[in-house]
Amino acid sequence: MIGVFDSGFGGLTILRSFLTRLPQYDYTYLGDNARTPYGNKSQAVIYAYTRQAVEFLFDRGCVLVILACNTASAKALRRIQQEFLPARFPDRRVLGVVIPLAEAGVDVSRYGRIGVIGTRATIESGVYEQELSKLRPDLKVFGQACPLLVPLVEEDWVGKPETNMILKKYLFRIKRKKIDTLILGCTHYPFLQKDIERIMGKNCRVLNGPETVSDKLIDYLSRHPEIDQRLGRNRIVNFFTTDDPARFRLLGQKFLRHNIPEVERAVFEN
Ligand code: DGL
Repeated sequence: MIGVFDSGFGGLTILRSFLTRLPQYDYTYLGDNARTPYGNKSQAVIYAYTRQAVEFLFDRGCVLVILACNTASAKALRRIQQEFLPARFPDRRVLGVVIPLAEAGVDVSRYGRIGVIGTRATIESGVYEQELSKLRPDLKVFGQACPLLVPLVEEDWVGKPETNMILKKYLFRIKRKKIDTLILGCTHYPFLQKDIERIMGKNCRVLNGPETVSDKLIDYLSRHPEIDQRLGRNRIVNFFTTDDPARFRLLGQKFLRHNIPEVERAVFEN
């Protein structure tokens, strides 16, 4: 079983891509809708919530968990890998989305000028700058927090003039830096991809998170047969949310672009 965790609905875009590219595996998705958004929370809180979620997914038989949430990947992944897994689950793995996106950014960047947009927590963590400069020290990286975009996507305001006006305001700040590549460092931004591409223009490549993360997962599984062999291949997909399952089913289908037959409630103690 592969676990996919997000603070809410956004990670369903990553799951959608896994189901298209790697349909043979079993998946369990967990959305922490009751405590979303993570993007404005402190590191301690994001770590505590993410650790609970990972443990929940392990308890349900996941051998590998993907943190589809950029904020959780930026603020909690390293500590989970360095402290939590060795102490409690040394034979399981947790991967995030930041390193795959950073690697893809370095691969496609022509002039070494990369922009990153994300939640406030992701951008303030500086994690993209760190990972990108480990891969290519001479890169110039420009981050821009876009805290208004997640609620606009969730409220279905994509394509509205007001949303495009806000997008332009955020994007012009990094467009001015003459970036050649833009990393969409948040689960929700693929919904705005077309508008972002139009605003950034032809000279800037906009990286799509779900496709990039699926490519990297395929590569990871081929390099780690010891994990791959332990994953179920019965095409089972389970959904859990910490909030109302009926609402998750209804709205989640929009993100997944597929029917969600059943959703169960995951209960966490605060
Ligand atoms: N999933 C979060 C991310 O990718 C966005 C939503 C939130 O702030 O929780 O950063």
